[in-house]
Amino acid sequence: MSRYREALVLLLCLVLLCGCDAGPRAAPSFHAIYRHGAVACDHHVASEAGAAMLAKGGNAVDAAVAASFTLSVVRPQSCGIGGGGFMVISLPGTATRPPVRTAINYREQAPAAAGPDYLALHADLNASKFGACAVAIPGTVAGLLYALERYGTLDRATVLAPAIAAAELGFIADEHYVASVKEASKSFADRPEYIERFHFTWERFLHRGKVKVGDPIVIPEQATALGLIARDGLTAFYTGPIAEAISRAVASDAGDLTIDDLAGTPGDGVRETAPMTFEYRGHTILTMPPPSSGGVALCEILGIVEASCSRRTLVERRAAEQWHEGCMDWLTIEGFSDESARRLHVLLEAMKHAFADRARWLADPAFVEVPTTHLTSAVYHRELAERIDSSRTLPSGSYGTPRQEGAHALQDAGTSHLSVIDAHGGAVACTETINLVFGSLLAVPEYGFILNNEMDDFLTRRGSANAFDLTQSDSNLPAPGKQPLSSMTPTIVLLGDEPAVVIGASGGPRIISAVAQGVLHALDGSVPMAWAGVGAARVHHQWIPDVVLVESGEFAFVGPTLVSARDDLQARGHVTETSGAIGNIQMIGRWLDAQRGWLMEAACDPRKGGRPAGIR
Ligand code: GLY
Repeated sequence: MSRYREALVLLLCLVLLCGCDAGPRAAPSFHAIYRHGAVACDHHVASEAGAAMLAKGGNAVDAAVAASFTLSVVRPQSCGIGGGGFMVISLPGTATRPPVRTAINYREQAPAAAGPDYLALHADLNASKFGACAVAIPGTVAGLLYALERYGTLDRATVLAPAIAAAELGFIADEHYVASVKEASKSFADRPEYIERFHFTWERFLHRGKVKVGDPIVIPEQATALGLIARDGLTAFYTGPIAEAISRAVASDAGDLTIDDLAGTPGDGVRETAPMTFEYRGHTILTMPPPSSGGVALCEILGIVEASCSRRTLVERRAAEQWHEGCMDWLTIEGFSDESARRLHVLLEAMKHAFADRARWLADPAFVEVPTTHLTSAVYHRELAERIDSSRTLPSGSYGTPRQEGAHALQDAGTSHLSVIDAHGGAVACTETINLVFGSLLAVPEYGFILNNEMDDFLTRRGSANAFDLTQSDSNLPAPGKQPLSSMTPTIVLLGDEPAVVIGASGGPRIISAVAQGVLHALDGSVPMAWAGVGAARVHHQWIPDVVLVESGEFAFVGPTLVSARDDLQARGHVTETSGAIGNIQMIGRWLDAQRGWLMEAACDPRKGGRPAGIR
């Protein structure tokens, strides 16, 4: 490394250690209060990039786009320009534009060569996960530039500048990065031929599996890619030199994604749509419709919880004394009581219904019929709530709306969520992914980024196990231009017209359960909202396997650990398993303070180690 670069990396370390909020200095914390705009990313440098746009007078979309491009550099294990994502936007009206409530879908698409048996016929059973055949057409650059052009206020060069600087400087490996390297290195240990095959990733991102916390990771090649995008926009990535480099990388690993697939993306690759909108206890929730399963599943979980709660009369609730206004507030209950256990059981049963329907029914609505109206209707949620037996859990066949074919849910990990609220009440929830950690492991060496393995989010082999020993419904088989089913759940909660919560998470299907719990804690709890939503211990049930995951005690940053709930859950027939982190939430809560006006509490999940930034 040159002396110049060493000095820059040292400077970056100092910045990371000191924190650099666009306001008075404060010790970096997982949560903080801001008055004039806040950004919560799962990496501090990305939060700072977003806050820098707010400081320049940019809006929430400018901040989100800058933060996202920066995450491409500093969270290469999770997301990046080789992946795709979803963005939910709520902007107040201006003199020239009515209020905006919209959802931008820039999920990756299957290339033209990918029919239903594309991966099923592949000799390599791991082809859906590692290497060029796992790569779907990246959508991130198209989506971010689309959002910036339609809804941002700053120019491309300005919003890309922090990401370019981060790529030139490099970043410091943190615990999440080191854990991700360890996980990816297992694949290299199992298949030593990967060292040659995915040479760039092995050498430059994984440092041959030997990365330690504090090591600098410097991939300046990505600065060149980002500079070309800043200068030439979409053409640089989809038809120009980066497109050529992507198709070379794919061809070198015997893949089929071509430059024609990329050239078709800018128009077809971005779909703008109305957000899925529903009510929960007086709030309006804006979230992502299919091909995300997140919005439908969130709606089902919250709908069932609300219907279950309202079955108890007010008199019964008062008699129980612990029954606060909220349905799911166990944070304020001293210890872990019978009432807490009952609420937890109801939540888990709601998750089982939602995940059963996710697995059976959800897929890309541009290709198959998805019964969204049925799955999100209050009548259906009341019916599912009636099926819940508060004394015991039920056999798997009792959940959701049945369908003939077998279907199960899958999990994955390489994803990142960011939340932004600006000074005018503009809000963005944005979740992006390259699917598993370090995606397909295949990098584009000239430009220093990793290509996704989103093809594994399709059902790739009918009736066979996928990456996580699970299968899904035929609706989610690949087809050219089709988008694989996602769990990403970027969500904005409005109170009236004002954003009250912006939330989302990473963590595969655990995203859905994490976001549901985050929303419940924020809206039903009586402790500060965003930190409660992020820091409380979590559970997860994805219907199949029929196991409740309960986070181990170290993950209760607010309120009780849920470890002591295991006996109560087992008494109700649940099989429980102690788990590591269940999703990683980045969340902002906003409220009107009588003295100080609008305040925002931004919280980043300690499970992944991000820090918020903003304007105080
Ligand atoms: N690949 C993560 C998701 O879209 O659910």
